[in-house]
Amino acid sequence: MKASEIRRKYIDFFVEKCGHAEIPSASLIPENDPTVLFTTAGMHPLVPYLLGQAHPKGRRLVDVQKCVRTDDIDEVGDNTHLTFFEMLGNWSLGDYFKKESINWSYQLLTEVFGLDPKKICVTCYEGDDQVPKDEEAAGYWEELGFVRAENAGDNPMRIFFFGKKENWWGPAGQTGPCGPDTEIFYYCGPEGEELQHAPNDENDYYVEIWNNVFMQYNKDESGNFTELEQMNVDTGLGLERLTAIMQGKQSHFETELFSGIIDYLKENGSEEIEESFRVISDHIRAAAFILGDPRGVTPSNTDQGYVLRRLIRRAIRHGRKIGLEGEFTVDLAKTVIATYSDFYTELKQNEEKILTELEREEKQFAETLQNGEKEFNKMLHIMKEHGGKVSGRMAFKLYDTYGFPLEMTQELASEYELEVDVDGFHEAFKKHQEKSRAGAEQKFKGGLADDSEATTNLHTAHHLLLKALQIVLGDHVKQRGSNITAERLRIDFNHEEKMTDEQKQEVEDMVNEKIKEDLPVRRFEMKQDDAANIGAEMEFGQKYPDVVTVYFMGGIETGDESNPVEGWFSAEFCGGPHAENTGKLGAFKIKKEQSSSRGVRRIKAVLS
Ligand code: ALA
Repeated sequence: MKASEIRRKYIDFFVEKCGHAEIPSASLIPENDPTVLFTTAGMHPLVPYLLGQAHPKGRRLVDVQKCVRTDDIDEVGDNTHLTFFEMLGNWSLGDYFKKESINWSYQLLTEVFGLDPKKICVTCYEGDDQVPKDEEAAGYWEELGFVRAENAGDNPMRIFFFGKKENWWGPAGQTGPCGPDTEIFYYCGPEGEELQHAPNDENDYYVEIWNNVFMQYNKDESGNFTELEQMNVDTGLGLERLTAIMQGKQSHFETELFSGIIDYLKENGSEEIEESFRVISDHIRAAAFILGDPRGVTPSNTDQGYVLRRLIRRAIRHGRKIGLEGEFTVDLAKTVIATYSDFYTELKQNEEKILTELEREEKQFAETLQNGEKEFNKMLHIMKEHGGKVSGRMAFKLYDTYGFPLEMTQELASEYELEVDVDGFHEAFKKHQEKSRAGAEQKFKGGLADDSEATTNLHTAHHLLLKALQIVLGDHVKQRGSNITAERLRIDFNHEEKMTDEQKQEVEDMVNEKIKEDLPVRRFEMKQDDAANIGAEMEFGQKYPDVVTVYFMGGIETGDESNPVEGWFSAEFCGGPHAENTGKLGAFKIKKEQSSSRGVRRIKAVLS
């Protein structure tokens, strides 16, 4: 059975046979849970309803939920681990409980999906001093022909009991609903040896396919469990795993869910490295879904954006290992979109964003990867001398200068049997942060170190320049750094491409025009919120006090404290000082436009 049919049959079974309402997959980026980066389970978006709020679709719900789990990102590459996966799930919000849940799961697996009952084993919660042994769940399994393992004789359909580690699920974040569960395993080992093996054995012949959680408890911030007002059922069935089992495949990577990507890698690469095939196909699939999500993020150095960056960069590195040349993430993402957009229409809707962002990240990374690896190789012998450790400083340099996520440095290091000084990395990271914070505060407090007329004029021209850059290049332009001496001004700003001569001319002309217009320069103390509301420019990532100084160039005074000037050309949070009007600045000239760091350009300009 194809995965698309499994999705459909699962939903239909619960809608038609068991009175559930189908709900759409929620966003991969959780809306109400700041404790986790991604939606990790089908129940995650339903937490308010599990806690008692009424769901508009009723008390029985079913869906296919997109999930991302990053805790075992480093395990991807083996047979079973995935970062992105699809979870089939059904819920009772204070409605049916253990009996129906167990019966329906068994019926669906054996009658609709045609799994062999003799290959199924189940596990139940063994109990502790807080929550009793789940005799009730075991009893319903017994009614279906299962026997407790200790009395099983030659019946392979066994019930095992395990503790909290195995048979307790949740909460998804740090707090929330949770409870004991019963798990369904399917035997995929050598024929006829069922009785010699059991769920949770090291050999993994029994593969967990479905988890039915009986959510009766809430875990609070201090770690206490209290009984919920309603008894819920929360189940999760991994689509990829079930598809592989039903198709008799060793791993989900052999199913049509991945075959498009794997075929591409086989055709275009020069080496067949199974692990790399898996890493690339998992990571690019996950990246496409994260980018294509309605609340999708783009690669960055924080939170979800960092995970995304790590996924893309790790895939690219493995691409190089198997000898892929040139850019390939866009081609692979197209395959992902083709495979999944029937069901996940957002991928088609956001196709352009997915492809553009991948291309941009791949280009950026390709530039730095080579230099970073060169740097790494240069340092190799030094590292070996230092007891086989990559120092924290070195790891930080690779991160800061070459865009290597720490985890990637660790992976690279392990290929040379080296360890990374992770604590040292975090220390270097912190030191760097403190330094740039101190720098920012200094700048904020002091305004200009030297307030001669020349620097004051250049400072005023600096404001006009930033605004002109935003008008000519686009609103994305933000100041990323600045330095002013008596001779020249320097501004760093984010922008991907080198500026064309025409753009430079246009910016220069605009600044000179504003100088000619002799705009008044006014200073106002404003509430930070008001200043932000009117769109005054502030420096990215800076922390400002409640009351700030804003410099306006151009416009007319209104007498309104919260919006003191209207029709201004430029308004910026700034300590000053500035010229009183722009007419006295002289002629403005851009001397140089160059790259400062990845995605950041630098301009040096003078007044004469
Ligand atoms: N929430 C349960 C799980 O993720 C069903 O396994």
